[in-house]
Amino acid sequence: MNPHGIRAFAPGRVNLIGEHTDYNEGLCLPFAVERGITVTAELRDDGRILSPDLADDDPYLRGATEELRASGIELSACTLAVKSDLPQEAGLSSSAALCVSLVLALNAVVRRDPPPPLELAKLCQRIENDYTGVETGLLDQLASILGEEGRAVRLDMRSLEWRQVDLELGDHVLAVLDSGSSRSLAESGYNERREECRRAAELLGVDSLRDATDPSELPDPLDRRARHVITENERVDAAVRALQAGDHEALGELLDASHRSLRDDYEVSVPEVERAVEACKDAGALGARIMGGGFGGSVLALFPPGAEPPSGSLRVRPSRGARAL
Ligand code: GLA
Repeated sequence: MNPHGIRAFAPGRVNLIGEHTDYNEGLCLPFAVERGITVTAELRDDGRILSPDLADDDPYLRGATEELRASGIELSACTLAVKSDLPQEAGLSSSAALCVSLVLALNAVVRRDPPPPLELAKLCQRIENDYTGVETGLLDQLASILGEEGRAVRLDMRSLEWRQVDLELGDHVLAVLDSGSSRSLAESGYNERREECRRAAELLGVDSLRDATDPSELPDPLDRRARHVITENERVDAAVRALQAGDHEALGELLDASHRSLRDDYEVSVPEVERAVEACKDAGALGARIMGGGFGGSVLALFPPGAEPPSGSLRVRPSRGARAL
């Protein structure tokens, strides 16, 4: 029963290309997927905010309530049912979807419009950083919030401007395949890469690697880390051009090039991910690459008409972003 009709939905995301660029003030090209997390709120009268689906000390719920209160919002007591149709740990950013849907639902309970996209994304990023201890960029949150059907969003993480880009796939299919690797190193490896990028920028005398042009003077592995960021930013705009031209072959090649760069220069791949990439290529993918933070997780691949993605793959298509329902 939900007599008050308070529901909010936030989708997971896929990043088409532009990986490990967000925290380097670079470019990304994600889209929101169809699946996500739905939070349904029922009012209660005992002053508490809780969820039968989350632990009492769940950091996302605690973060959402504390951050909203800190921003001056007087929240109302409620029970929050949290339902997800996103595969967990598959690199589709279920945690960003949880944050965004909780914040939207808590706002809806007190009949407030949600904050504007950038403010909402930053609030959710603070929840991840400060309450779960995971450093993230803004990619996942903005992708979940800004999603539009049939479009990817080109994010410029320096100006914090975005532009919707038509993602017409025709009979081509984008699918994600979970590598099955537990991502045990994910957190430490991710934070180490961020630190390496900071050091590389410092040695080059630039504010961020967005401004780097020639990494050749840097010591190894910082030169390779910087080269990944520089070339990946270029690939994002090349992908936008490929989409505008309807050139799926070119898009596939860019996915492959991104993967090589993430594997060899950025070193965030693991054997299970390599096997998943190979399985996609064997199935006829035009391109396949590791997606998200790396050290495990999922692979994204583009399949031409007629090709059958490997079993266990999840077909993804650009869909509408987060909203109160
Ligand atoms: C994770 C982070 C994002 C981004 C990606 C890598 O998904 O949450 O902010 O840094 O890794 O592109």
